[in-house]
Amino acid sequence: MNHIWSGNKIRLRAIVASDWEKFHQNDYDSECARASDVVHFPRSEEGTKAWAEHQASKAPDGDSVMLAIETLDGVLVGSISTHSCDPRHGTFKYGAAIFREHWRKGYASEAIMILLRYYFEELRYHKVTAHIYAFNESSIALHKHLGFVKEGRLRNMFFTNGQHFDEHIFGLTSQEYKKLRS
Ligand SMILES: CC(C)(COP(=O)(O)OP(=O)(O)OC[C@H]1O[C@@H](n2cnc3c(N)ncnc32)[C@H](O)[C@@H]1OP(=O)(O)O)[C@@H](O)C(=O)NCCC(=O)NCCS
Repeated sequence: MNHIWSGNKIRLRAIVASDWEKFHQNDYDSECARASDVVHFPRSEEGTKAWAEHQASKAPDGDSVMLAIETLDGVLVGSISTHSCDPRHGTFKYGAAIFREHWRKGYASEAIMILLRYYFEELRYHKVTAHIYAFNESSIALHKHLGFVKEGRLRNMFFTNGQHFDEHIFGLTSQEYKKLRS
């Protein structure tokens, strides 16, 4: 049986309410929060539970989605989400975060390729971009490794840790994606 959301190491699945605890633990990794989003106010356990319950029960928001990344034996290792999905132009953006103890096992790479397959081959999207803060060397290395094209650098787009940082834009078209897979 071929499950389109599964790879060799991980699968993508909907977030469920019981995922709250691992996401809550990950809230203490401010470096990860800064690299993938922003550093937030502290969140209570009740707050994270309510967030996970909401993720688990909410209706889809157009083509934007947030999915859990779990190993094939069911360990939650991170999440991946799409946003700014524009079906008219066929463009979308995404972000991924793997919990620190699971880095460098190929999980993000596989999760991204599974996600791209769905958007390019099922939803008919044409172009994806990843917007990466200039200090995020891991993500820049990841996107080079995956074959994304560096398309530009926007100056002073993000403020954290007392200063502004540039943003790198990495992109991939559906044709480039097909070549990578062939
Ligand atoms: C960036 C991130 C998602 C990478 O996840 P990962 O599962 O460790 O990535 P992978 O194992 O798939 O890495 C694939 C390749 O990318 C490159 N790479 C990934 N992380 C790297 C790092 N820290 N340093 C150098 N190269 C790196 C390597 O070429 C790696 O292959 P290799 O391990 O065989 O050398 C992870 O570090 C993370 O969650 N960071 C915090 C959140 C974040 O930055 N999200 C991205 C926002 S744009």
